[in-house]
Amino acid sequence: MLNLDNYVFARSLHILAIVFWIGGVAFVTTVLIPALKSTVDPKNRLALFEQLESKFSFQAKITTVLTGLSGFYMVMFVEGWDRYLTLQYWWMHLMTLVWLIFTIVLFVLEPLFLHQWFHARATENGEAAFNALHTMHIILLTLSIIAITGAVAGSHGYSFF
Ligand code: HEM
Repeated sequence: MLNLDNYVFARSLHILAIVFWIGGVAFVTTVLIPALKSTVDPKNRLALFEQLESKFSFQAKITTVLTGLSGFYMVMFVEGWDRYLTLQYWWMHLMTLVWLIFTIVLFVLEPLFLHQWFHARATENGEAAFNALHTMHIILLTLSIIAITGAVAGSHGYSFF
């Protein structure tokens, strides 16, 4: 099961999943939320956002699972668990942290309370709720960009220290 062909497949799958997942996060952060904030009538804003976001949420769930499975397969193949003990591999820590945050948000917090909480806040004060949502997306996208840049450079031999 642990062989080079599967490793190459896992690596391709890892990147493909990340393109759809973080690409979607980038779209929501840089296009969708700013467009909703500036052009859509506040009364319709929440309904439109929820409609579009629920479609992406499904895609994000699938791609998060694929990223995790392919990522941990690669760690097993390269016997790289001890990388988590070295600061040199900070990009491994960051990749895993980004994955963990999204996994908890998508599979635990959102179904439990985040969705209703945002709905209530946005109904009360749409402006503040959408600004807070935008800030959270900017933080997560920034972490993801740093993780991707660090992972590409680090896994191709660049030494950061
Ligand atoms: C459970 C979470 C994850 C694990 C266990 C994981 C593990 C790995 C491993 C083992 C590699 C190959 C490293 C090497 O060849 O030395 C890798 C590559 C990579 N990962 Fe992850 N990863 C995870 C999540 C993520 C996330 C969330 C992102 C994006 C934000 C990401 C982006 C990348 C990129 C861009 C590469 C470099 C591929 C290349 O240049 O060929 N990974 N990952």
